[in-house]
Amino acid sequence: MSTILSKEQLTSIANEYGTPVYVYHAEKITEQHNKLKQAFQQSPTRFFYASKALTNINILKHLRTLGCDIDCSSINEVKLALYAGYDPKNILYTSNGIAFSEIEEAVSLGVNVNIDSLSNLEKFGKKYGHSYPVGIRLRPNIMAGGNLKISTGHEKSKFGIPIEQLDKILALVAQQNIFIQGLHVHTGSEIKDVSVFMKVADIFFDLVPHFPEVSFLDLGGGFKVPYKEDEIGTDVPELGAKVAEVIQKLKETYNRNFETWFEPGKFIVSECGYFITEVNVMKQSGATVFAGVNSGFNHLIRPMFYDSYHRIENISNSGAAKHPYTIVGNICETDTFAWDRPISEIREGDLLVFYNAGAYGFEMGSNYNSRFKPAQVLVRNGEAHLIGKRDSFEDLLKNQVELPF
Ligand code: LLP
Repeated sequence: MSTILSKEQLTSIANEYGTPVYVYHAEKITEQHNKLKQAFQQSPTRFFYASKALTNINILKHLRTLGCDIDCSSINEVKLALYAGYDPKNILYTSNGIAFSEIEEAVSLGVNVNIDSLSNLEKFGKKYGHSYPVGIRLRPNIMAGGNLKISTGHEKSKFGIPIEQLDKILALVAQQNIFIQGLHVHTGSEIKDVSVFMKVADIFFDLVPHFPEVSFLDLGGGFKVPYKEDEIGTDVPELGAKVAEVIQKLKETYNRNFETWFEPGKFIVSECGYFITEVNVMKQSGATVFAGVNSGFNHLIRPMFYDSYHRIENISNSGAAKHPYTIVGNICETDTFAWDRPISEIREGDLLVFYNAGAYGFEMGSNYNSRFKPAQVLVRNGEAHLIGKRDSFEDLLKNQVELPF
């Protein structure tokens, strides 16, 4: 079965469910998960889907049935994962900057926890001592990632315990007899270069002797996916082979077995997603031709927030000659999706599809300008299913408390 949805399928979904609409393809998610399993089969590896990328409960359930584990960035994501049927031992909670009470809640739910500050590690040690195994998130002082907003391992980053504070970590661990079961580093998103992961693996290699109870090394997420036509993503088979070598060397050096853990979000769900919009207004201004769609950064913030590129196609006129268009939304401030992009001739009413929209698309959406969040549809075994209703007017008011006037 093809893992690409055709223009005909997308058009028929737009006709049935209206626009704007996010469409996801279950078989593409399966394909991505299989690629990971294949690439890392030479050494024991676990994949925890970084659910922040797309938390629709059906996506979580689909991944659970594939045998994928799940990574959560808030206690609510942990609860969504439990709701989706994940066993607590297959749930990982990698948080940052949270109140200790959230860690206590995660412990009471029985999930794996990575701790990101000395302060919470100390509280954890005082309360649990050696009774609950825990991972620690470290900041390796490595600059990596597609842009500064998604770089998390550099020396000015808020994430993790700075590696230069190792002495303090070790003192706490010794004092409170903390059971450190894993080391964690996530240097950022959109990391194409395999050597970044290997640098982290080298750091782990040197740290392991300090932590005799560590059994997993968590390299985080951040595999790059190709957004542009000529881009290439992270070479996961190469990474898989290199990681297997390190794990083997670790075993030989320290006479212990280690698992590698990963937390990929984008790699698993980005390419399965299509965002379909409709052109409301064409406007000419000098050499610029604007195509205004029935959406904006309230639905897909990545272009405005990160200057991200999403391939855009006019599926209503795909054979026509290409011209440069500036694709904009209908929000009350600049919300440009693409500048002077060559696209097949656009007319009002045409459907424009944004590709690679599965990760951090709907999930980072908002109701800015009191616009409704889009509907979400999942194509599975060739059939389209509504998995998220478009907002209704009542949704805009549902949490507002009206005073008497
Ligand atoms: N693990 C941790 C601790 C993370 O913070 C993240 C992402 C991931 C795993 C998953 O990273 P991924 O494999 O999806 O790159 N909104 C941005 C991406 C920011 C991700 C933040 N943390 C974007 O749209 O590009």
